[in-house]
Amino acid sequence: MAAGPASGRRNFLNWLLGGSAATFMAAVTYPVLKYLTPPPVQDVSVEAVSAGKVEAFANNSSKIVKFGSRPALVVRDQQGEFKAFLAICTHLDCTVQYVPEDYVIWCACHNGKYDLNGINVSGPPPRPLTALKVNVQDDEVFISEEA
Ligand code: FES
Repeated sequence: MAAGPASGRRNFLNWLLGGSAATFMAAVTYPVLKYLTPPPVQDVSVEAVSAGKVEAFANNSSKIVKFGSRPALVVRDQQGEFKAFLAICTHLDCTVQYVPEDYVIWCACHNGKYDLNGINVSGPPPRPLTALKVNVQDDEVFISEEA
């Protein structure tokens, strides 16, 4: 039996239907696989980060700066000494802030308090804040992970 025009049309329609089915399956499968595949883990180690010029910090003041993907709290105490911590509460990860009137680091979520050494002193936080290293070079304040 010779292949006629009807056979050619049938082959074309089969090819078109097969292609459509494959495209549909790819359109459904790709987002599902992308959802199920975890994103690549970013390098969490951060080099030294500048927190700004020394003169930008008055005594008994603070600043929250970006430390990689996390917030860091840089505090200049009443004596002019710099301290830095990850600004992440050890209770439920809220961002902490410095309260200069009370000389404490405070978490607004559940009224957790830390002293200026990052030690948890009241409220629900179970552990001290993670301390960061502070280096002052050329009138600029740098923070980095403690070794
Ligand atoms: S999250 Fe900070 S005290 Fe609860």
